[in-house]
Amino acid sequence: MVKINRRQLILFGTASVGTIFFTNKFNQNISSQPLPSSNVFDVYKSSNGLLELDLEAKENLVNIGNTKASLLTYNGKIPAPRLEVKPGDKVRIHFTNSLSQPTNIHYHGLHIPIQGNADNVFLHIKPKEKVTYQFQIPNNHLSGTFWYHPHLHGFVAEQLFGGLAGLFIVRGDLDEIPEIKSAKEEFLVLQDFAVDSNGRVANSAHMSLMTGREGNIITVNGQVNPRISFPETGLLRLRILNASPSRFYRLALENHSFYQIATDGGGLNKPIEVKELLLTPGQRAEVLIKGNQPAKEYRLLNLPYNRGGMGMMGGVGMMGGMGMRNGDSRDNTPMVLATVNYESSGQSSSIPNELVAVSPLPEPQTVRTFELNHGMNPSVGMAFLINGLAYRSDRIHTQVRVNTVEDWEIINTGVMDHPLHIHNNAFQVISRNGKPEDLLAWRDTVLVKTGETVRIRIAFRDFVGKTVYHCHILDHEDLGMMGNLMING
Ligand code: C2O
Ligand code: CU
Ligand code: CU
Repeated sequence: MVKINRRQLILFGTASVGTIFFTNKFNQNISSQPLPSSNVFDVYKSSNGLLELDLEAKENLVNIGNTKASLLTYNGKIPAPRLEVKPGDKVRIHFTNSLSQPTNIHYHGLHIPIQGNADNVFLHIKPKEKVTYQFQIPNNHLSGTFWYHPHLHGFVAEQLFGGLAGLFIVRGDLDEIPEIKSAKEEFLVLQDFAVDSNGRVANSAHMSLMTGREGNIITVNGQVNPRISFPETGLLRLRILNASPSRFYRLALENHSFYQIATDGGGLNKPIEVKELLLTPGQRAEVLIKGNQPAKEYRLLNLPYNRGGMGMMGGVGMMGGMGMRNGDSRDNTPMVLATVNYESSGQSSSIPNELVAVSPLPEPQTVRTFELNHGMNPSVGMAFLINGLAYRSDRIHTQVRVNTVEDWEIINTGVMDHPLHIHNNAFQVISRNGKPEDLLAWRDTVLVKTGETVRIRIAFRDFVGKTVYHCHILDHEDLGMMGNLMING
C-alpha cells in the first residue's frame, strides 16, 4: 500500500512538533495493517417508547490504535454505547459509578428536565454509588446528534479526557427525508488522548490547563485512522461530535465538499455547501458527502487552527516536553483522521433541497452581557472569569424567567478563543461583531473568538430549576468559566 508511506510521513511530521515523550507511542499506531472499521459502537435503541439500559463508568484497559491504555469508559469501551431514542420516549439509565472519583452524567443538548434524576449537573454520585436516571424526551423534541458526558465541576476535563463521552441520538423528521434516509450513516466521535509509557492517561500536572489539555493520539470512535466506506454515486451522512475537552477540529475531506444538514441542535432549513467545518469542543454537525469523484482513497483531514493563548504561556517550550501542544496546531501540517473510500456503486442519490423548518425566535424581552476573560487568583493561580467572576457553586450568576426570550451578548476580551455552551435550551446566533448572522440554526455551543462579540437569542422553555452555562474548553470550565443559571417559574 503506497499510501501508507505518505500517511506515515504526514503523521510523523505532526507528532514530532513539540513531542519527545509520546513520539514512540504515536508511531506504534502506524502500521501497514488494514485500517480498522469506523463502525464499532454498542447501540441501545428504545423500543415501545422506552430506552432502558445499565451504564457503568469504570476504568478499563482498551486499545487506542495500537496502544493499550487504561482509560475511563462507559461499559468498558471506547467509544461509549450509542443511545438512540425518538421524541416522546422514556429513558431509564441504571448508572453505577465504579470510578475512584465522584461523577454524574450530563445530557448535552437535550431539552429535558434539569432537576431530580434527569439532566441535573449538581448530582454528586460517589464511587460505588448507583443512580437511576429517568426522564422523558418531549414529543416536540428536535431530532439531532446529542451526547452524554460527566459534569461534576472540578472533574469534568479530567474525566472527559479519560474517555467518558457517548452519543445520544434523537431520531425524527430529519431522518425521514428520503435522500437522508437512504444515505450511508456513520457516526464520528472525535477524541484525543495522551497516554504515558505505562498506558496511563497523562497527569494533568504535565499539561497546559490554561489553554486546555490536548493529547496527540487523535481518534475517531477510539480508532486511529479508521476506514469509512460508502457506495459510489451514493451519499454518506456523517454525524460528527467533538468530544475532546479542548481540541478544535477543522475538518476537510480531500476533493469533496460537505453539505451541512444539521448543527448542534438539529436540522437546517436547507443544506449548505462548505469546504471545511470547524467543530469546537462540545459541538456537533451533520453533513452529507457525494460519492461523485474517481474511486480511490480520500483523507479526512484535521487542518491547523490557532485558538490563541500562545504568548501568555511563554511559547511551546513550557509544555513541549510532554507533547501537549499549546493552542493547537502551530505547525501547518494537516492530520489524517480517517480514510474514506467508495464501495461498488449503489443507487445514485442527490442532496435534498429542503430539510426541516427552523423559524427565527421572537424579539427578546431582556438583553444581557457576558464578558469572557481570565485573571490571576492569589491562592489558585490562573482563573477563568465570566463578568469578572470565577464560578462559585453557592452563587446564582444569572436568573431568568421560564417561557421568555433573551439576547445574550458574549464579549471575549481575553487572549484565547472560548466556545460558550448553555445547557437545556438551544439558541440562535443573531450577530457577530454587529454583523447579522445569515445561517438560521439551532446551537448549544458557540465559538466566541478573541476580540469578538457574539449575540445569541435563547428561549427558556418548559423547564424550571438550576443549570449552568460555561466555556466548553473544559479546563476553563473547571477553572471557573461557568455560571449558575436559575430558570424561575
Ligand atoms: Cu457538554 Cu456543560 O456540557
Ligand atoms: Cu451541555
Ligand atoms: Cu474557554
